[in-house]
Amino acid sequence: MGWVQSRRDHGGLIFIDLRDREGITQVVFNPTLSPDIHKQAHGLRSEDVIAVHGQVEPRPAGTVNPQLSTGEVEMIAEDLEILNPAKTPPFPIEDNVLVSENLRLKYRYLDLRRPRMLANLKRRHQILRAVRNFLDGHGFIEVETPHLTKSTPEGARDYLVPSRVNPGQFYALPQSPQLFKQILMVAGMERYYQIARCFRDEDLRADRQPEFTQIDLELSFVDREEILLLMEAMLCEVFLAVKGIHLQTPFSRLSYPEAMDRYGTDKPDLRFGLEIHDVSSLVSDSSFQVFQETLNRKGVVKAMVLGGKAMLSRKELDELTEVAKGLGAKGLAWVKVSAEGFESPIVKFLGEPLLRKLSGALSAKTGDLLLFVADQLKTAREVMGGLRVQLSERFQLIPADQFHFVWVTDFPLLEYDETEQRYVAMHHPFTSPLDEDLPLLETEPRRVRAKAYDLVLNGSEIGGGSIRIHRRDVQIRLFKRLGIEPASAQEKFGFLLEALEYGAPPHGGIALGLDRLAMILSGAESIRDVIAFPKTQKATCLLSDAPSSATERQLKELHIQTEIVE
Ligand code: AMO
Ligand code: AMP
Repeated sequence: MGWVQSRRDHGGLIFIDLRDREGITQVVFNPTLSPDIHKQAHGLRSEDVIAVHGQVEPRPAGTVNPQLSTGEVEMIAEDLEILNPAKTPPFPIEDNVLVSENLRLKYRYLDLRRPRMLANLKRRHQILRAVRNFLDGHGFIEVETPHLTKSTPEGARDYLVPSRVNPGQFYALPQSPQLFKQILMVAGMERYYQIARCFRDEDLRADRQPEFTQIDLELSFVDREEILLLMEAMLCEVFLAVKGIHLQTPFSRLSYPEAMDRYGTDKPDLRFGLEIHDVSSLVSDSSFQVFQETLNRKGVVKAMVLGGKAMLSRKELDELTEVAKGLGAKGLAWVKVSAEGFESPIVKFLGEPLLRKLSGALSAKTGDLLLFVADQLKTAREVMGGLRVQLSERFQLIPADQFHFVWVTDFPLLEYDETEQRYVAMHHPFTSPLDEDLPLLETEPRRVRAKAYDLVLNGSEIGGGSIRIHRRDVQIRLFKRLGIEPASAQEKFGFLLEALEYGAPPHGGIALGLDRLAMILSGAESIRDVIAFPKTQKATCLLSDAPSSATERQLKELHIQTEIVE
């Protein structure tokens, strides 16, 4: 039984490619063997659901199809039943046809029939199976936490659900199970995990969905090291089970300042080099005005060596400059290192001796191209970090089929939010500061480092976690630092603060983004391709047409009146 993939009429014989979850089998209808069935088969169309009876036989010599896993056999049909005829699908059920994503999402059940999509969902299942096996083997207990709950801040907006029986009150859908998993540690669970659905009302991108899935863990009596090693072991099992790949451990590690300095981002792609260098002190007494003025304004000059690209044309260099400007740069200075010397519009400002010193410091070779950006530190990092990624794509510097993991550690606990004019938690407000930095919380908040770690795979943040605050007094100090007054802290997180007073063990954990992990393991472009029923950029479901308006009666029961305010 299955679906008709295609029908071919050939010298009196009819061939049907019959498709099911596992693939395709050829069925042959022979007019001399069973004329009635043959006539019926003549009317079959793509996606009709049929049942066929017959004998499976080796294909005649010369007709074997090595492309097909069932290419050595075929079924000689003896009986046919049409279980359900199908309308002509709006697009062919094949991998390599170009279909607009909106059409795919509207007819998702047809899109998911395509082999690649089916394989993606299967792979996602395999990942989860390996994860569950591993965690079960390591003493973790799977516990479900509520979806109708109180706000769990992870930096996004909440989705709210009105309460019918509590007029004017709302549940928030969890941005993560963070608070409940910490409470489970107070409850003595010791090792918890959950394949947890999270809800965040934020601007969507290729790697973000309003609801997504975390592999969420929490452990008591642990330190950072134990969690990192545990995750490395788990991912080794996942990659082996799903891809047959032996990952190299231990994973690379970078501190946050190191990642920002060398790669301009806290989620560096380490599959290629192209490191960023600070040459501010080297160029500090050049006569190039752009560099001078930037340094006078406490800015920096950053440089990158693009190996073997000195032959780029003026037009290509102008294009790179435009790319840099698109990333926020004021300009992009370049120097070609050629056998004849240095070639660049700014040679005359920098001078040969300084250029020799620079190229020596940057280990540049003949044939290399040096790129410079002068700006304030934040912009210079963003531009160089962005440029690094774009150059790697443009010049195909990324080796195929490589998986490069890196842990980023020692994040700042806080960052200053200019629009809100206050400090906000870089991860979430339950992350513990390093013990030695705690005294700086009130005096030098910018210098306080967090016991937080992110896991980055091929330039994508696939997980994040931390050791938590387990002492009420420390938690209250942090809330205060974040501008959350005691009354407000009590109202929002009182249940956590109270729990911390009843013997909360030291604890910590992590959450991996399952969708991003599945996306990378599937070589997909977007997490939408590894989610059965994803939402569009505008957070709509084209299949079911959600969100939609509520009826008058529903709103009345919820004690809600709506008025759209633009
Ligand atoms: P965090 O907010 O870093 O941490 O989330 C963990 C991981 O979840 C993934 N992720 C997303 N995936 C798809 N769509 C989204 N909108 C989205 N947002 C996040 C990322 C990210 O690394 N409670 C903490 C974890 C902890 O401290 O234990 C948390 O939620 O891959
Ligand atoms: P200008 O003097 O503005 O004509 O710039 C001379 C060269 O320096 C051009 O190639 C510009 O792209 C480059 N340039 C200008 N501003 C910057 C900057 N902030 N950082 C790096 N290069 C720059």
